[in-house]
Amino acid sequence: MTNPVTTPADFWNPKFDTREYIFGKTPNTFLTAVIPPAQSGQTAYAPADGEGRNGVYLAQIGYDVTSVDIAEKAVEKARLLAADKGVEINATVGDIMGAPPAEFDVVIVSFMHFRPDDHKRFVDHLIAALKPGGLLAIEGYSLDQLPLQSGGPKSEDMLYTRQKLADDFQALHITLLQDTRRTLSEGNRHQGEAATIQLVARKAITA
Ligand SMILES: C[S@@+](CC[C@H](N)C(=O)[O-])C[C@H]1O[C@@H](n2cnc3c(N)ncnc32)[C@H](O)[C@@H]1O
Repeated sequence: MTNPVTTPADFWNPKFDTREYIFGKTPNTFLTAVIPPAQSGQTAYAPADGEGRNGVYLAQIGYDVTSVDIAEKAVEKARLLAADKGVEINATVGDIMGAPPAEFDVVIVSFMHFRPDDHKRFVDHLIAALKPGGLLAIEGYSLDQLPLQSGGPKSEDMLYTRQKLADDFQALHITLLQDTRRTLSEGNRHQGEAATIQLVARKAITA
């Protein structure tokens, strides 16, 4: 018997359908280290933002935030987290495979992994979502995550390598691209030793 095809929303909604924040309420600590506080009027975009921990953080440091996720159960929790923290975010249900909703000063990606065809579309989406001069920060699992138990997909073709990200974002000015071994403590899904790759890049002012 073959497995029925599962959409990303069908896959993720049941996981988010709990009062618990499965990736925690605190932001990804790499992103907090590399994203500066907003200057007046600056915008930020958090695609695949899940329950909103990173989008809410960006609002707390002054950005006008657009948070998008395909799972409505996650988006409901992102709105609740924003209200609980006393900030506003524009949290919407949407698919990040198409055109981005606008161009932004800052774009962040936290632990988002796709199969190769969708990954290419996601890369195009991220580059198109940056204003000229805009800042992109990404953290995801590397191939070295395969034997580890702190989250992420178990398919090699969905995991990052530095070479893959360097090729993906060669149109940008990459200022940081590094492998890490670090300890995650993010809800009940990301706990323990992890192997990640971190990238920071900027789009040219005259693209
Ligand atoms: C591993 S979770 C990461 C959530 C969040 N970035 C964080 O770090 O807490 C992956 C997220 O991607 C979302 N997602 C998967 N495919 C998507 C798509 N095509 N469009 C928008 N969101 C998607 C899922 O619903 C889920 O919230």
